[in-house]
Amino acid sequence: MPHNVTRRSVVAQLGALTSLIGMARSRSAFAGSIGRETERLVSRIDTLSGALRGELIPVNDWRNGINELLSSVPVAELMQGLDFERLAARTGFADLGVSTATIDFGFNEKKRLNFLPKLFAVDTGRSIIPHGHSNMVSAHLPLAGAFRLRQYDQISRNEHSLTIRPTVDRRITSGDLSSIGEEDDNVHWFIAEEPSYTFDVIITGLDDQEKRPYEIYNLDILAAKANPDGSLTAPRMEVAEALKKYG
Ligand SMILES: [Fe+2]
Repeated sequence: MPHNVTRRSVVAQLGALTSLIGMARSRSAFAGSIGRETERLVSRIDTLSGALRGELIPVNDWRNGINELLSSVPVAELMQGLDFERLAARTGFADLGVSTATIDFGFNEKKRLNFLPKLFAVDTGRSIIPHGHSNMVSAHLPLAGAFRLRQYDQISRNEHSLTIRPTVDRRITSGDLSSIGEEDDNVHWFIAEEPSYTFDVIITGLDDQEKRPYEIYNLDILAAKANPDGSLTAPRMEVAEALKKYG
């Protein structure tokens, strides 16, 4: 991916990116009742994500840009814009793992977004089970609640395991954004300490030459072997087995 837009603030360049990729979304595209700030935010996330898809910016710029954009709007305002109460009631909680809902901003159906907006709901003690990814990136903004978040770089993988290196282990609450790169911080694991929700920005199919739009690798991190260089080799797990142990 080219590194031709590696400036201090990617967001400051959004206007230029918009005209470069011709994906500016007119206000009339937003038929719903989301607030003006949320509408502007979604439009800018869309432009930034279009730039990533179009290989105009590298993943690190996307991650920094998403962080900057989602820090620019108060969480309470975003929640109001998302009609959070209604959305959360519709989403509910899962007995194991997470319950998710795709967020409909009320766009004209012909104008597809460059990202998938979702709400994740995770009840106390439940988790977004430990997993790595390929051919996708994502960002996660806690709206309410608290998580213990762990992240790992993905160093290598084979059909049985992933070799990973710990990068993050912290408690996150409302407004503490996290994101994954294609290798950096690519594995994540969220354990909810109370009923919790995240707003997720997901981009799949980064490489459209790949057969599948994305892959998820569920990991048995507690059974990982420690390597002399500080990395861990964690066995891959089937979803049902992973939910039973970690969900
Ligand atoms: Fe994930």
